[in-house]
Amino acid sequence: NWLFEENSLGFCNYSGVVATNHAGYTGTGFVDSENVLGAAINWSVSAASANTYAISIRFANGGAATRRAAIVVNNNKLLSVDFPSNNNWAAWQTVTVNVPLNAGVNSLKAQAETNDGLANIDSISIAGLGITPAACP
Ligand code: GCU
Repeated sequence: NWLFEENSLGFCNYSGVVATNHAGYTGTGFVDSENVLGAAINWSVSAASANTYAISIRFANGGAATRRAAIVVNNNKLLSVDFPSNNNWAAWQTVTVNVPLNAGVNSLKAQAETNDGLANIDSISIAGLGITPAACP
């Protein structure tokens, strides 16, 4: 298992800011993305073996509506995931997606599919043996 936090190895780039203005985040803050279609966060993930891995995304959405994001692995969009609102930016939620990774280094991206941008993203946790953060490309 590996927990990917902002501003640490494997956390590559993002459209927006790392913010701390809502309690309950882990690490040094959370990504408050730009409120635009296509706002994204990129990670770099090494997997010891090719497999399907559960990725748990910790997020907050206190906005008016569900925010949807594409999950893009190695430049292929694999699925869309919904980040529902619970009307509270400080009440963090988790959504889990199952994603195939190659052996070796993989790029992983969450990319907003609504004009609201991404939910606030605190961290991602990838379950399984042999998952480690990789240097960013
Ligand atoms: C508010 C909230 C931010 C959030 C933003 C949004 O401004 O304080 O944390 O990112 O709404 O709608 O995305």
